[in-house]
Amino acid sequence: MSSREHVVLMKGIVKVYPDGTQALKGVDFEASEGEIHALLGENGAGKTTLMRILYGEIRPTKGEIYVFGEKADFKSPREALRSGIAMVYQQFSLIPSLTVAENIYLALSSVRRISPAEVRARAEELSRKLGWSMPFDYPIESLPVGLRQRVEVLKALLAGSKVLILDEPTSVLTPLEVEELFKVLKSLRDEGMTIILITHKIREAKRVSDRVTILRRGLKVGTFKTAEISEPSLARLMIGEEIELTVKGGIPKPGAQALVVEKLKVKDDMGVLRVKEATLTVKYGEIVGIAGVQGNGQRELVEAIAGLRPAIAGRILIDGVDATRLTASKRGKLGLSYIPESKLVGLALEMNIVENSIMTLLSRFTRRLVDVDWGKARDNAGDIVRDFGVVCRSLDDTVKSLSGGNQQKLMVGREIRRRPKILVAHEPTQGLDVATANMVRRRMLNLRDEGSAILLVSSDLEELLSLSDRLLVIYDGRIVSEGRPEDYTLEKLGLLMGGVIDASYG
Ligand SMILES: Nc1ncnc2c1ncn2[C@@H]1O[C@H](COP(=O)(O)OP(=O)(O)OP(=O)(O)O)[C@@H](O)[C@H]1O
Ligand SMILES: [Mg+2]
Repeated sequence: MSSREHVVLMKGIVKVYPDGTQALKGVDFEASEGEIHALLGENGAGKTTLMRILYGEIRPTKGEIYVFGEKADFKSPREALRSGIAMVYQQFSLIPSLTVAENIYLALSSVRRISPAEVRARAEELSRKLGWSMPFDYPIESLPVGLRQRVEVLKALLAGSKVLILDEPTSVLTPLEVEELFKVLKSLRDEGMTIILITHKIREAKRVSDRVTILRRGLKVGTFKTAEISEPSLARLMIGEEIELTVKGGIPKPGAQALVVEKLKVKDDMGVLRVKEATLTVKYGEIVGIAGVQGNGQRELVEAIAGLRPAIAGRILIDGVDATRLTASKRGKLGLSYIPESKLVGLALEMNIVENSIMTLLSRFTRRLVDVDWGKARDNAGDIVRDFGVVCRSLDDTVKSLSGGNQQKLMVGREIRRRPKILVAHEPTQGLDVATANMVRRRMLNLRDEGSAILLVSSDLEELLSLSDRLLVIYDGRIVSEGRPEDYTLEKLGLLMGGVIDASYG
């Protein structure tokens, strides 16, 4: 085969994980020079598994891999990197306390001999070329997620990669950052690089890719020229049935005040004031959405409401009770339920599905902490799994062994099935495919229709616009705009979120 055409060729790839999960059942995949190739599929389809195999992180059970025409048998990512293949995960592999320059040096020096000064010079040159101004001397932990991702991309490019694999890169980005990333990916493509973009977002695949390969339940459905296939066809091939792309709830009937936040001030882990004086109200029977660029205080705000972070000033009322100084579990007893942004907060990865399913509602299944009614807990876990379509082999699976999307379904399903009076949901549909995300959205609308109050923080603006009864915009720790979703366009929201305009803008 010619190396120019097939930069990457994977044939008959089978992967059976040690626990017996058949993640890939004989998949062929091929990517060429100078293309953006989207790898599209719903949660658990096997996208990440296929690319971790290409990147040498896990070994295939069966199958052959050729890179630039040569048979490859990578035993580690380092070997893959030497052959020009790099992968950027959603969970970045950066050391938070080290600076950008130090992190880049560390990564490069593990692949070959190079001096810090040389790395620095080349990193500066490359970022200039990409049009990125990078804070090389700042520690990673001080940077917003979008910049951290750029550090990962720089690392990959400086290592001399010809093939760049990105796993769901846009899920952590704002719309503006997504635009910028796509621009860079296209220019890299034009220079001959091969970009493999893992995504379950059909629109994204359609917009940026040259070709798209669809996986469904461990099998390849097909590879298509993106320009020749429509969004509905992609959706059908991905899910196997027609799906509705939007959801909309009934007429809201807001009731009494469920959650009141008054002049709240909250600091982050570094002691920096992130919430600078936030005031908001959520009534029973309404969904209030918060839009904002990551890093503008929304995380600290919801953590303070959930009781995981102290308020420096201001008040939090839950169902009329001053909860500002209450523990998280006392707030739970007042009816508050919380879906965190991070699965590391919401799930115990080493524990099994049953144990995780009762984590936040222990009191319902126990009289004392030691005496859990495991029979009841198991039934409840089974209900969540069935109801939210968590793909697993058994309830005894560790949560670590589930795909990212299935972990998310478990965490979200657990909280929604409790039918909480007040739900604080932070990125509840992140990592979920279209059909599942819409199911979760419908379930939140049902909760609202039953009278629950929901505070929804999401980076998916279409989700916010379609679910919220009222929409707030947070910028630099303050609520800078409030209105009905009809009052906003995507563009106006983007400008408000970026601090480019304020609420007085027409
Ligand atoms: N380390 C593991 N051990 C056992 N099973 C695993 C492991 N990693 C993934 N799986 C299983 O393999 C299947 C494919 O998972 P994979 O992560 O490749 O899917 P994906 O397409 O990337 O999904 P998502 O969109 O949810 O990230 C899933 O059923 C998943 O539960
Ligand atoms: Mg994945």
